[in-house]
Amino acid sequence: NKVVLAYSGGLDTSVIVKWLQETYNCEVVTFTADIGQGEEVEPARTKAQTLGVKEIYIEDLREEFARDYVYPMFRANTIYEGEYLLGTSIARPLIAKRLIEIANETGADAISHGATGKGNDQVRFELGAYALKPGVKVIAPWREWDLTSREKLMAYCEQHNIPVDFSSKKKKSPYSMDANLLHISYEGGILEDPWAEAEEDMWRWSVSPEAAPDQPTYVELTFEKGDIVAIDGTAMKAHEVLEYLNKVGGDNGIGRLDIVENRYVGMKSRGCYETPGGTIMLRAHRAIESLTLDREEAHLKDELMPKYAEVIYNGYWWSPERRMLQAAIDETQKNVSGVVRMKLYKGNAIPVGRKSEQSLFDESIATFEDDAGAYDQKDAEGFIKLNALRLRIAAGKGRKQS
Ligand code: ARG
Ligand code: SIN
Repeated sequence: NKVVLAYSGGLDTSVIVKWLQETYNCEVVTFTADIGQGEEVEPARTKAQTLGVKEIYIEDLREEFARDYVYPMFRANTIYEGEYLLGTSIARPLIAKRLIEIANETGADAISHGATGKGNDQVRFELGAYALKPGVKVIAPWREWDLTSREKLMAYCEQHNIPVDFSSKKKKSPYSMDANLLHISYEGGILEDPWAEAEEDMWRWSVSPEAAPDQPTYVELTFEKGDIVAIDGTAMKAHEVLEYLNKVGGDNGIGRLDIVENRYVGMKSRGCYETPGGTIMLRAHRAIESLTLDREEAHLKDELMPKYAEVIYNGYWWSPERRMLQAAIDETQKNVSGVVRMKLYKGNAIPVGRKSEQSLFDESIATFEDDAGAYDQKDAEGFIKLNALRLRIAAGKGRKQS
């Protein structure tokens, strides 16, 4: 029997390799992906070899992640509970998919991951795995073993000759972090007190708005069917767009977030996030939609959005309801093409210009100047009177209006 493990190359998942080999007496296949977390993935190879792993998968999934997961999600302007841009949530379905594909390739019947039993990530990995391979066996060491403290983990390393420098971060961060092309997240440590402000040196991707330049930076984003395809006229792939916007966004103090959110498993949790590129993309996408979408189409899309966000947050990417919502969202994006000019300034991402061949904005109708008969203001009188009819009837019958 064989198990495919989502392996970061860090200390925790290295312990998991050994623990799986011992506890289940099984062959472990490791899978390490570059999804833009900003750490080398190649060192995971030697580490896995040291642990006796024979089948080692190391892959660059940045393009697929940005193109097939982040971009489709941004077409919906997706945010969870009004704030969270779902940076971690959207990466899990891709990892789950690759775990299952690799299980099929290597003849493994089980998958394993390093998420705890208290969080959302376990749910996302496992719902995805079961959806794609109904008979798969799932092993979640954090729910099974008794290595519940740092000390016990270190003792286990000593007993099993796991080099402690497998700890991937240069200096051990006091936070539980997760990073990819879309965001970096911080949880735990002093953040467990929702009243305590995060220390400035926690933030790794952005300068504080106070420290951002006094001069604004402008970028022009070209959209095609809801997706950014060029910046300042230069064509770019999805993952290049994210990399570029993360850089300029971070330099201008954009995309910091500090929230308390509701986890699917039922608890509240405090998290800090940096999503510089995503924050710019969201504002710009709304700006291009404001020109190109029909009003009712736009409003209905906005009603669906919180549901779509919840589906992704809770781990149901690989579900019929997600595909159904995606089909509706993608249908609305046919005409969402054009250019948005963004001003980036001290934590703000402000659309200051937008244009589109598909624009529904009609200057000759909207103008406050003489519109040469394009719109007859007298029509508004009947429009308002008929819309007021039920209100007048009710008032006429003495119904209280306030
Ligand atoms: N609370 C966020 C979410 O559920 C971030 C989770 C971060 N995960 C982690 N393994 N540190 O999407
Ligand atoms: C974890 O518990 O593994 C991280 C936090 C989460 O998944 O919500």
